[in-house]
Amino acid sequence: MSIKKISKEQPKNFEFNSKNFEIANKIIQNYPNGKQQSAVMALLYIAQRQHKNWIPLSAMKYIAKFLNMPYIKVYEVATFYSMYNLTPVGKYFIQICTTTPCMIRGAYKLVNSCKKKISNNPNELSKDKSCSWTEVECLGACVNAPMMQINDDYFEDLDEEKTIKILDQILKNEKIKPGSYRGRKNSEPEDNRKTLMENKNA
Ligand code: FES
Repeated sequence: MSIKKISKEQPKNFEFNSKNFEIANKIIQNYPNGKQQSAVMALLYIAQRQHKNWIPLSAMKYIAKFLNMPYIKVYEVATFYSMYNLTPVGKYFIQICTTTPCMIRGAYKLVNSCKKKISNNPNELSKDKSCSWTEVECLGACVNAPMMQINDDYFEDLDEEKTIKILDQILKNEKIKPGSYRGRKNSEPEDNRKTLMENKNA
């Protein structure tokens, strides 16, 4: 598991753009009176999306004011969850699951491929600044292990060779195909299904 670091370079100011300001206000209306602080995770996520996929300290301070809660509480949430990036990430942000099912199916070969192709250390930009990678806990696709997430898409059933090929493609800014790299449909068996045959949609 990689360690979270706060970026040394921090923009001074942050505020939601008008669209996100509206979305944030709608979100906090989902919570009962006095419980608006529960929207902190959703608002951090919106801030991350707005700010090139990472959250500066100024955004945490802004959200603290927005929700009328102590800054340290926002900071605690942002630094606890791995879904929040606290340093700049590449246009292609690669998250490799190294939890046990993926690990025993070769996840560290994927990590080594990223070290070779992108950067020696996690959370470090590639030379051309287009990519970065990190290790994460289970992404819920264990049945297609090992896997990695690139931006919003999952790439599954990988090995070293397939990972290198995908990384080469993103480094050339080429389109990449998400899903299983052993031709499986979702998490179906590779050859014909042998169970639940009577149920077409199983
Ligand atoms: S263990 Fe890797 S996706 Fe669950």
